[in-house]
Amino acid sequence: MKRVAILISGGGSNMLALVQDMAAGGYATPVLVASNDPAAGGLARAQALGIPTAAVDHRAFPDRASFETALADRIDAARPDILCLAGFMRILTPGFIRRYRGRMLNIHPSLLPKYPGLNTHARALAAGDAEAGCTIHEVTEDLDAGPILGQARLPVRPEDTAETLASRVLKLEHRLYPAVLRRFASGDRSPLMLD
Ligand code: GRF
Repeated sequence: MKRVAILISGGGSNMLALVQDMAAGGYATPVLVASNDPAAGGLARAQALGIPTAAVDHRAFPDRASFETALADRIDAARPDILCLAGFMRILTPGFIRRYRGRMLNIHPSLLPKYPGLNTHARALAAGDAEAGCTIHEVTEDLDAGPILGQARLPVRPEDTAETLASRVLKLEHRLYPAVLRRFASGDRSPLMLD
């Protein structure tokens, strides 16, 4: 049974989708939900589900390296096989990434390689894209650029705003991430394309 740690910064809707799918599929178990923000709503949701949590406030550390050392210590104590970044909003240093390279996944709300970074939906709308979506990729030293493990796409509607698009893509994320985690946990790293 694969052990999965999930890193969040906010509400944790992706974390919840992953946790529910692991419970339904029995292919993995959540061993930790950690956040860089002690006020992250996802921490309370995880606690309500009986999942061990850790809040490592990045603002309580003098620099990125000391924050990441504290975070990695909590992660390693849970002995995860796989790390899932799910709405985690801190950029990780190469040192941290090397520690978990090959077993750390991230979800990004765009059809990578388009729109790495922030404000993905506004940028897709500004470009007049006919499609938008989300991508799961392995985390490597290059931001939002690791090997793609899955993508899901949907048509952009004429009346879409960044908010309405974000809301529809988020629902797609909740389908894609669990499907990719199932494959990844079974050793299958072939990209999953959902349309
Ligand atoms: C959302 O914007 C989502 O697109 C991205 O992270 C943000 C928060 O997600 N992946 P969550 O509800 O905390 O999972």
